[in-house]
Amino acid sequence: MPRSLAKCSNVEDLRDLARRRLPGPIFHYIDGAADDELTYRRNTAAYEDYDLVPNILNGVADIDMSVEVMGQRLGLPIFCSPTALQRLFHHQGERAVARAAEKFNTLFGVSSLGTVSLQEIGDLISTPKMFQFYFHKDRALNAAMLDMARAARFDILTLTVDTITGGNRERDLHTGFTTPPRLTPKSMLEFAAKPSWAMNYFLRAKFELSQLKDHVGQGSNIAISVGDYFSTMLDQNMNWDDAGDLRANWDGKFCLKGVMSARDARRAVELGADAIMISNHGGRQLDGARAPFDQLEEILAEVGGEIDVICDGGIRRGTHVLKAMALGATACSGGRMYLYALAAAGQAGVEKALGNLESEIERGMKLMGVTSLDQLTPDMIRRRQV
Ligand code: LAC
Repeated sequence: MPRSLAKCSNVEDLRDLARRRLPGPIFHYIDGAADDELTYRRNTAAYEDYDLVPNILNGVADIDMSVEVMGQRLGLPIFCSPTALQRLFHHQGERAVARAAEKFNTLFGVSSLGTVSLQEIGDLISTPKMFQFYFHKDRALNAAMLDMARAARFDILTLTVDTITGGNRERDLHTGFTTPPRLTPKSMLEFAAKPSWAMNYFLRAKFELSQLKDHVGQGSNIAISVGDYFSTMLDQNMNWDDAGDLRANWDGKFCLKGVMSARDARRAVELGADAIMISNHGGRQLDGARAPFDQLEEILAEVGGEIDVICDGGIRRGTHVLKAMALGATACSGGRMYLYALAAAGQAGVEKALGNLESEIERGMKLMGVTSLDQLTPDMIRRRQV
């Protein structure tokens, strides 16, 4: 088990390091998922049911790892999905992820439940940025968040559509995880066991949900579980008309995150979305849902070429990205793959995570005999017979 960042060769190593640095409830918030965590495990296992078929003798000294996603050229075929509460994991929070993503010229998503303001992130980096939008019951809050995203010049608005109610995250129920963390004798002991985390959390800038704090106390000052936040604050009547209104109100690129069926992918095209992220929220919402990678072929058969299709979740290796690209994905994205790294070592950690994936993708492309990602085609991958 590696004890230093330099020795972390892969996502699993970074996860181990994060586990050592974080108080238990916070680690399990990142690491955990819904119910029996079947979908969470399947998200990664799905890639293992497919095998790559390489070609040879193609002259691969110079390769191009770039892809175009929603009109933006990215240096890597994988980007950092929006995730919540980042300053809880490391005091640098979104600032670290933003700077690391900029170094690799890849996309970075800031969450509605983010802990640094959109304006600050907008001023910090010049590479493409996505704002992840939760559709709240409070329409004034929704309007304010759109204004903030416009003012901070975010390129992409991404509406999350798979959190209509809170997922049953039993690890959080067991640990009592809330945002902000509740101070109880039990949690104080957990924090005392990780003094460097505790010093940073308690002595640096006060924790807040920057996009929400002026409208609601929940999350910044009133401790609440993420499941309860979804169930009580978000609008459970959200429907296609609401998504259409949002699309019409946003001049930039528009993406739906959490599309899982071919039928909904078609509706996303009709809505005028520029992209969909096939995602089950990292297995944190509907346990028993299919893995994004398993749904990729079906969705591409319906809307491939009409809309960008991003395969989100479960990615632990560069070869997972290559498998999704071979089936025809526009790009891939992930949350935990960089969150463990953020928790382990801030910006340097996220750079390490992205750097590891970059070298795995580069090596994998060379071994597959391709010099650009569009050369990866469906005839270079097979589903194993089970
Ligand atoms: C979660 C949300 C906040 O899955 O994205 O915890």
